[in-house]
Amino acid sequence: MGKRMGIVTRDCAGINAAIRSAVRTAYTLGIEPVGIYREYKGLIHGEFTPLTWRSVAGIINLGGTILKSARCEEFRTRQGQEKARAQLAEQRIDSLLVIGGNGSLTGAHEFSRNFSFPVMGVPATIDNDVNHVEMTIGADTAVNVALDALDKIRDTSTSLERIFVVEVMGRNCGYIASRVALAGGCEDVLLPERDFDIDKMAGEILEGHKKGKISWIVIVAEGKAKASDIAREITQATGLETREVVLGHIQRGGKPTAFDRIIAARMAHYAVTRFARGFQNECVSIQNGELRSIDLEQAIQPKDIDAEGYYSLIRLLT
Ligand code: F6P
Repeated sequence: MGKRMGIVTRDCAGINAAIRSAVRTAYTLGIEPVGIYREYKGLIHGEFTPLTWRSVAGIINLGGTILKSARCEEFRTRQGQEKARAQLAEQRIDSLLVIGGNGSLTGAHEFSRNFSFPVMGVPATIDNDVNHVEMTIGADTAVNVALDALDKIRDTSTSLERIFVVEVMGRNCGYIASRVALAGGCEDVLLPERDFDIDKMAGEILEGHKKGKISWIVIVAEGKAKASDIAREITQATGLETREVVLGHIQRGGKPTAFDRIIAARMAHYAVTRFARGFQNECVSIQNGELRSIDLEQAIQPKDIDAEGYYSLIRLLT
């Protein structure tokens, strides 16, 4: 195990709590943590910053990431990764802690495979799409933020007897959509993991309408369809007034929930401890509340979010 550990991060609530835990755990184990700004982009361009015990004070309650984040196409190329490898060598950094979601962990896996470089993943993404990980950092906050907004939309939907289509985040994954739809008592949900039939939905809305049920809330995961398209199709098929709301990036920001801060502290501590014990190319996982580690390669495989189970329950309770 090396003595200088780089830290890169994606962006979601709870990441700062993870940075704090990683930095302080590292110091207790005799490892020097080095922050890398703007994830892999900053790594390629040599944007390093020292991280001290004191520098991570007062961040546990902050959303986002103090290390900033950025998308980086260049890191997907061999040439980009070679630049990153050279920067790490110049900084004498001999291990990399990657706190992020599927994309960040895939980048870490490829980098470690190409250069035999020790990496460790800490799963953090609002999408909760890291395989074999019950909950990623940030997902609980995102669901609660979306739910809070949805409860407000429901007030208007009920008062004005309107149909609402609410688009939530989730590029390829219906985790937020399915959980928000169940917790918010929504009538329907469109998920990337399952097909849907707009005519059937319109028929059900009209059927409900005849029985006096006029408000209707449909959640749609952004990875499945655009709320504006679904709203237009519902209006065309039913003749009923339908409004769309796109919740967007408010779901990724905000004060992390206690749950996210706690799993962030525990997972980051576990990851750095594993590094110190000589393990590498793993991702921290949490299952039934217990921490363990899995191969990074397993973590980046598609995840089953029990779309059918949640869908059935949402529909049953409508
Ligand atoms: O992966 C997390 C996520 O928030 C997705 O839910 C969403 O599709 C994507 O990131 C948005 O990315 P960006 O902020 O780069 O547009």
